[in-house]
Amino acid sequence: MIETLRVGLQGRAYDVLIGPGLIDAAAAHIKPLLKRPVAAIVMDDTVSGLHSPRLIGALEAAGVTAHAIVIRPGEETKSWAGLEDVCERLLALGLERGDLVIAFGGGVVGDLAGFAAAIYKRGIDFVQIPTTLLSQVDSSVGGKTAIDSPHGKNLIGAFHQPRLVLADLGMLDTLPAREMVCGYAEVIKYGLLGDAAFFDWLEADGPEVVARAPEALARAVGRSIAMKAEIVALDEKEAGPRALLNLGHTFGHALESETGFGEALKHGEAVGIGCAMAFRFSAALGLCPGQDAVRAERAIAAAGLPTRLADLSAHPFKADALIAHMAQDKKAEGGALTFILARRIGEAFVAKSVDPAPLRDFLIAEGALA
Ligand code: GLY
Repeated sequence: MIETLRVGLQGRAYDVLIGPGLIDAAAAHIKPLLKRPVAAIVMDDTVSGLHSPRLIGALEAAGVTAHAIVIRPGEETKSWAGLEDVCERLLALGLERGDLVIAFGGGVVGDLAGFAAAIYKRGIDFVQIPTTLLSQVDSSVGGKTAIDSPHGKNLIGAFHQPRLVLADLGMLDTLPAREMVCGYAEVIKYGLLGDAAFFDWLEADGPEVVARAPEALARAVGRSIAMKAEIVALDEKEAGPRALLNLGHTFGHALESETGFGEALKHGEAVGIGCAMAFRFSAALGLCPGQDAVRAERAIAAAGLPTRLADLSAHPFKADALIAHMAQDKKAEGGALTFILARRIGEAFVAKSVDPAPLRDFLIAEGALA
């Protein structure tokens, strides 16, 4: 069954389709968006090898010329050089403003191809076809596009909404187990930040989602995207509630920065431990019942995600080094720390000007070095 959700942005509303087999049906959904039957598909070597014959075959069978732009896998391509490469290849293909870019892959490809589409000939339409759980439930929806700078991750970018998102659940069949677990961190994040009933269900059935049981997976992806669509429609440019989607990200980014944004700690894993820490920090500040922090931690750990600093190979961390990274977070204002904290499971809020002194005490209590 295919579920259709709408991201209700005025003038730029778009559908997110969720279900199996969407790749094979892609032409029927994409063709109506085209002024002439031409598209460029940006994907990495891995996705190209696994899935591109199906997507290109489906488009070409419907008379759409589908050019492949294949890039190297990995975060390194989300760079100025990677952006230049994609834009120059689009120019060499002669893509016109009325043509379409298709971002076919995980978060790296979505961010890079989306940003290229945002600036190519001052903006060209693009479609997201996310192939990882993390990109299906989070990064493919909402129009955040970016590359990294030597100064930090995602610092150069634009809001550029896709015209359509096709979240084909069949793509997840070939996803490595570690990537499933990473995507699940973002799924549980939605329950923790705004839907206690969804969290209750994940507490019981989360392992089914990670094991890719079709019904559980469809329910988890559907609810996650519905929450994201609702929040993005309320606050496209993150002036308010969209910041809640960063639950776990302030702690998580600091840990990712310390571990070099690589295989040692993947983004989803950082979100998992970050959510657990955000709940424990909320409890330590007396904002949230300790029992909710325990439940959050248990459910995150049950999926195989780290929840404690001691779970990470780079442990021990220096408290001041972590705080220095937090001060560089995009949410920081005038150097003051902003966190997403919680009153209870299902009720997160934006906490501005968080005092670094209790934060330092908390990090040391968590095992960081003074
Ligand atoms: N990943 C957070 C957001 O899209 O706002």
